[in-house]
Amino acid sequence: MKFVLKCKECKHEIPNFQKWFEVKQACPKCGSHQADVVYLDEMKGVKKLVDNKTVKPDSVWYYFDYLPLNNQKNIVSVGDEGVVPIEKWDFFEKFAKEKYGLNIKVYAHRNDRHIATGTFKDLAGTVVASVLKETGVKNYVAASTGNIGVAYSHYLAKARISLSVFIPNTSLKSQEAEIGSFGQSVFRVDGDYAAAKKMAKDFAAKHNVILTGGNFDPMRIEAKKTMVYEWLRVMPYFPTVFMQAISGGSGPLGIAKATEELAPLNLCKMPRFILPQPHRCAPMAEAWKTAKAENFPENWEAKYPVYENPETTIETLSTGNPTAYPALAKVVKKSAGEIISCQEENAIDVTRLIAYEKNVRIGPAAAITVVGFFQSLRDGLIVDGDVVMLNIGEGVSRSHKYVEKLKYSSQFVSKLDDAKLMDRNSYREKLWQAVEAI
Ligand SMILES: Cc1ncc(COP(=O)(O)O)c(C=O)c1O
Ligand SMILES: [Zn+2]
Repeated sequence: MKFVLKCKECKHEIPNFQKWFEVKQACPKCGSHQADVVYLDEMKGVKKLVDNKTVKPDSVWYYFDYLPLNNQKNIVSVGDEGVVPIEKWDFFEKFAKEKYGLNIKVYAHRNDRHIATGTFKDLAGTVVASVLKETGVKNYVAASTGNIGVAYSHYLAKARISLSVFIPNTSLKSQEAEIGSFGQSVFRVDGDYAAAKKMAKDFAAKHNVILTGGNFDPMRIEAKKTMVYEWLRVMPYFPTVFMQAISGGSGPLGIAKATEELAPLNLCKMPRFILPQPHRCAPMAEAWKTAKAENFPENWEAKYPVYENPETTIETLSTGNPTAYPALAKVVKKSAGEIISCQEENAIDVTRLIAYEKNVRIGPAAAITVVGFFQSLRDGLIVDGDVVMLNIGEGVSRSHKYVEKLKYSSQFVSKLDDAKLMDRNSYREKLWQAVEAI
């Protein structure tokens, strides 16, 4: 035994995941759904793992000692999860210097490079499938806007575990098809993400099968936490700012857990969380703005709006009822960070620019992160000396409609003379102008 689960509220200990599932993923003493995985060696081995600069890990399972699995034979992996490139994006650094006079460093965590889904949800996929396999689970139920559904579908199929996924009415057909393609059931619910979550919950109760733990799921938090280990292992500097578009908010919760857990070892400090939401589905940003304007009165974190059927164009980020807000907002405040609302229309502009400058095509949710970066520069949220980590959480592989919107250089021609030979440099200025206007 190398870990236990510990209730975040009353500190009651639950010995393992079998027990955690038996008690329906809620503390038997106080009912809280939030529990931390606590490692019995107090994280003492992390330093050795991250200090080894010569090792080439196969996957996140390089950090096996700090993942909630007891036996390596239960690992379900297709390789490379969690060990994707972290690149310095100096064209953004140059922009910050030229336009705002800021000396900053900008890094991109290339989670679009994950093999199974092209998103950072591969991390949760491999960890959740492995833990479920170890605990002998045969059936699992999830609600998803798409990405997590595809990741679970893929990895659980590999572990021979059956999955039922409830998706909202607005989810992309391509996401639905991908989930189903691995032989897992998909239910398109007549309603929004909140309705899909509710039906998934009732379905799990009706059939007495295990439901995903949502944004507080300790398996998911443990998976995302490893991004911090990778920063420590491969980067010359630790980020002072972490940016990721949020829907439910489990990404930053994982990063926060990792940095708090490593604080006693003096390995790193919690970065400021600057978390963008698409403006048509930004309940957390709205709540944050109000709380900030009122100078964070008592119990401020309990107040947030709920949007029914949010009509965002960024379907993966359509959590209208952000139940994790009270916990997440407190973490953001502690980190001296911000939750911001970003113009969805600018997503295409930043995606085109990055494809042009870096040959990298980021997906819509990742584009919201980058729009947030430009807004943060404009609004003074990023300051001189910052080391900014952008979570490039997804590529474009599943968003065909989005790819169609990226085209800007084609013309219809009917005769040869209409087609002119072009220098690709001629596109640069327009592409930069579009993002400079953000
Ligand atoms: C690429 C991408 N970015 C961000 C998010 C939001 O994740 P979180 O659960 O951390 O809010 C998702 C998933 O919903 C995603 O797929
Ligand atoms: Zn408790």
